[in-house]
Amino acid sequence: MILSARSRAAAVLAVAALLGPVATQAAAQPAATPVTALAAPDIPVSSVKAHLTQLQSIATANGGNRAHGRPGYLASVNYLRAKLDAAGFTTSLQTFTASGATGYNLIADWPGGDPSQVLMAGAHLDSTTSGPGINDNGTGSAAVLETALAVSRAQLKPEKHLRFGWWGAEELGLLGSRAYVNSLSTAQRATFAGYLNFDMIGSPNPGYFVYDDDPAIEKTFKDYYAGLGVPTEPDRVGDGRSDHASFKNAGIPVGGLFTGAGERKTAAQAQKWGGASGQSFDRCYHSSCDTTANVNDTALDRNSDALAHAVWTLGAPTVR
Ligand code: TRP
Ligand code: CA
Ligand code: ZN
Repeated sequence: MILSARSRAAAVLAVAALLGPVATQAAAQPAATPVTALAAPDIPVSSVKAHLTQLQSIATANGGNRAHGRPGYLASVNYLRAKLDAAGFTTSLQTFTASGATGYNLIADWPGGDPSQVLMAGAHLDSTTSGPGINDNGTGSAAVLETALAVSRAQLKPEKHLRFGWWGAEELGLLGSRAYVNSLSTAQRATFAGYLNFDMIGSPNPGYFVYDDDPAIEKTFKDYYAGLGVPTEPDRVGDGRSDHASFKNAGIPVGGLFTGAGERKTAAQAQKWGGASGQSFDRCYHSSCDTTANVNDTALDRNSDALAHAVWTLGAPTVR
């Protein structure tokens, strides 16, 4: 369970202690100020798109892709790392070897929070060799980056320890995330309250899929979408198809968002979401046309905001 009843009770007791005699004498006053979750900020989709423009430029300058073992991959890592360092994150690069080349995972820790309760959000940063990989997976990478930067802007003091990760070599079979999880001791794995994955969240003919996995994480995303009045579907085809599988295999609760890849949108889905029935969610999946033109801004905006909502809610920062 991701929201511990114990920590909530402790927070309520802390408020009671704070108010002390005032709370007990003032029966006519409204109840003691409840401990409320801070609302997540609206993530500016323009900022997320600005990161996509940079990733596109990196691909263009490096042979048209950002694939594992190619120079566009490390250039992508360096772009993100500089932003995170400047925002006060503690960053590290984890290296691994795959297909005879060095792979890199970028990890960014937000100082503070309970080290025995880690909430992590991540995305794969590599493309295939076929194209720049802007929907797959510039979108997830940029939204996780912008959420991390929003944590810094808010100078958030969450209950949980927040960690963000960008994985290498996902396209070769989830290799970066697997290397990361394999590097954790049993005790370290036990500190994870949850892992949130974002892989393809701005598909041009979007669906709104919520991973059908850990119930508390799934509910957090579904509640957000219910508030927007946008229907979602459980993602049942995603199992094992992205980096959350590496965490799930280690017993860590997982969840995430997805707007669809090469599969076709059904008539019923086009009815509820709009867009083109009988066409792929992303007709440029794993191809050279997966450029900045291959992104639906509304889907990217909603999913970026849903991501921030989940980090703020599941990280359980409180205001008293
Ligand atoms: N992981 C796949 C890729 O990067 C994309 C994908 C397909 C996916 N189905 C999914 C991601 C379901 C998350 C969930 O090419
Ligand atoms: Ca937004
Ligand atoms: Zn992907």
